[in-house]
Amino acid sequence: MRPTDRIFVALDMPDIAGARAMAADLTGLVGGVKLGLEFFMAQGPDGIRTVVADAGLPLFLDLKLHDIPNTVAGAVRSVAPLAPLFLTVHASGGPSMLRAAADAAADEAAKLGVPRMKILAVTVLTSLGEDDLAAIGQQGPAQDQVRRLAALSQASGVDGVVCSPAEVAALRADLPADFTLMVPGIRPSWAAVGDQKRVMGPAQAVAAGADRLVIGRPITADADPRAAARRIAEELGA
Ligand code: C5P
Repeated sequence: MRPTDRIFVALDMPDIAGARAMAADLTGLVGGVKLGLEFFMAQGPDGIRTVVADAGLPLFLDLKLHDIPNTVAGAVRSVAPLAPLFLTVHASGGPSMLRAAADAAADEAAKLGVPRMKILAVTVLTSLGEDDLAAIGQQGPAQDQVRRLAALSQASGVDGVVCSPAEVAALRADLPADFTLMVPGIRPSWAAVGDQKRVMGPAQAVAAGADRLVIGRPITADADPRAAARRIAEELGA
């Protein structure tokens, strides 16, 4: 994998024009763009198509699906024409739901003749503290639940998980080398930390076992996003 392929830039903005311009500006310097619920709810599949078609970049569609298996499978089939490289679901949806997502991705790709999207599972949202987890009936350290859900995801046929810098080394040790670890919370030493709590530098995260990095504001809020992306790629060995 080229160093630039590791970088997925988070386009956390609701408007097509802004996302489109940013993506086009970063073509060749990043491995893809991450668009999430905020953008999808505002602009729908057509908005996604517009941003990605212009930039010619792989898509990480961060929709965090969580429903009964039949509905999640249907949602996976519905987004398959967008040909995302990655799509997220919640691991807490359980083994049948995870399996249904993975099977639907494979079936639909074969039907459409497009590459199979990789399903990534979200384990425990990093916004949930120990108190929040206790409030929803989840006792014990969050890290244990993360490891349990990551192992369940792998056993249920999904391709990887989204995990925080704090979890990447433990999950890398637990899971096979071809199981993708997608890691947000990345901050080069020269970028503002902002609201992220536990951050890691890009090279440090890869050394710990990250395959792909989700990077938003260190690139998108920089006065020169291209230069910032280039600098990160260089830190990764480009
Ligand atoms: O701007 P920044 O680099 O902090 O953006 C990180 C991206 O990764 C955002 O889209 C954020 O929602 C997402 N993310 C995260 N932490 C998680 C999961 C997702 O920062 N645990």
